[in-house]
Amino acid sequence: MTRKKKQEVELSKEEAAEIFQMSVNDFLKKIKDFKIPVSKSGNYSEEVLEKYFQKPEVNSHLSKIIAISNQKGGEGKTTISLFLSEALSLESKVLLVDWDPQANATRLFVNDPERTVFDCLGYRKNEKVSVETAIIRVNSNLHLLPSSLSLANFTTAFERDDFELLKDALLPILSSYDFIIIDCPPSLGLGLENALIAADYILVPVQTRAFSVQGLKDLHETIQKIQQRANPKLKLLGAIFNQYEGNRALAGLSETVKKYFPVFKTNIYRKESIPQAQAKRKMLNACDKDTYRSFLELAKEVRSKINV
Ligand SMILES: Nc1ncnc2c1ncn2[C@@H]1O[C@H](COP(=O)(O)OP(=O)(O)O)[C@@H](O)[C@H]1O
Ligand SMILES: [Mg+2]
Repeated sequence: MTRKKKQEVELSKEEAAEIFQMSVNDFLKKIKDFKIPVSKSGNYSEEVLEKYFQKPEVNSHLSKIIAISNQKGGEGKTTISLFLSEALSLESKVLLVDWDPQANATRLFVNDPERTVFDCLGYRKNEKVSVETAIIRVNSNLHLLPSSLSLANFTTAFERDDFELLKDALLPILSSYDFIIIDCPPSLGLGLENALIAADYILVPVQTRAFSVQGLKDLHETIQKIQQRANPKLKLLGAIFNQYEGNRALAGLSETVKKYFPVFKTNIYRKESIPQAQAKRKMLNACDKDTYRSFLELAKEVRSKINV
């Protein structure tokens, strides 16, 4: 039996010049100098060219994965995930992962996504689709991995690996983004545990009008458990005050939160434009430049805390 020859890829002189990063003239001169063979159609075998020229390093990113978590609903996880992603995407490539079955972040961009993050998990022997095929390109720097109610089925670990399904699903795209922001569900449990095992950092939004000390304590315990057992590199970025109202904030708020988490310098104030932008399905920069500026501040603080 004869083995089938590997499919040959042929490049035109223009394609080759681009791939190996030189001008077409320089390329043709080198072809002549090195006596590189040309095909009948006037093209060049990529395999042969690779022996003579080095491909430049592809511009690769190394994702910093940040889980935006708090098991209470209404703290601002989705809001901060969304507008922090918007602010970071000004200078970096960002993937926003909607990791909540309520799919609030998803609905701001699409009504009924064909494929969602749940399909990328291969949970309980479901067919696993590749994460790239589920991603929606909002713009060149901001992409979304959508969610849907089907994620609500992801509640019980049947196998040990079930704690690492999100981490595994994200592996193929780690070098495609500078930041991966995970908008977590409002519960402790398998979903949150998956997010904290996949993440490098955790950021905790705290709604300052009615925050729950017990809630912060429980979250802190979950984080410690994950750090000790499954993800020692998980770092606490800190708590961020949301719906902040300056002097009207609860007395002792800062001191209490600081017992569990470092607190960001940037506060996100209570602003009507935030729910309004979401109702209009608009990004914040297009609705309220002033409030957007506080997310730019937050993005700057996030970058400085993780040194990027
Ligand atoms: N800083 C803010 N000012 C005004 N409204 C806010 C602010 N942050 C969040 N909201 C609103 O509060 C509600 C809950 O916020 P959300 O981000 O969905 O919380 P979570 O994802 O934690 O459940 C949403 O309607 C959102 O528009
Ligand atoms: Mg939410």
